[in-house]
Amino acid sequence: MATIAIGSDHAGPEAKSHIKDMLESIGETVIDCGTQGPQSVDYPDYAQKVGQLIQTGAADWGVLICGTGIGISIAANKMKGIRAALCHNPMTAQMARAHNNANVLCLGARVLEPATMLELVRVFRETTFEGGRHQNRIDKIHQLEE
Ligand code: RB5
Repeated sequence: MATIAIGSDHAGPEAKSHIKDMLESIGETVIDCGTQGPQSVDYPDYAQKVGQLIQTGAADWGVLICGTGIGISIAANKMKGIRAALCHNPMTAQMARAHNNANVLCLGARVLEPATMLELVRVFRETTFEGGRHQNRIDKIHQLEE
């Protein structure tokens, strides 16, 4: 089983809690990086917490949530080795893993229905990277970090 780091800004604590419960109910280990309440916080701080757990190997992959998913995905993608994918439907969640080997799923809590967010987490979790020609492209993405 995997260890999954999850984090959100003030737009996403409720969604984060549902995702945590769902993942734990199927035997995954979840590290909850906050935030836990409605008070306004800055989404880059939570992208950093989750990204660092993935960079160090303490977590296998992550979920990040903000209002649209946009800001937190931009922030996470500034971190070396992080491939954060903002997904809106099952197809994008599947492709994010199969083709892009994404290690963070980003969700917009003010965009998606709660049930849709859970479905995207399930799809992301169940999909594996196809490798092959896609690995070359991932390598080129990481060359851009240098
Ligand atoms: C916070 O109000 C909001 O800007 C944030 O959750 C996110 O949508 C940013 O991209």
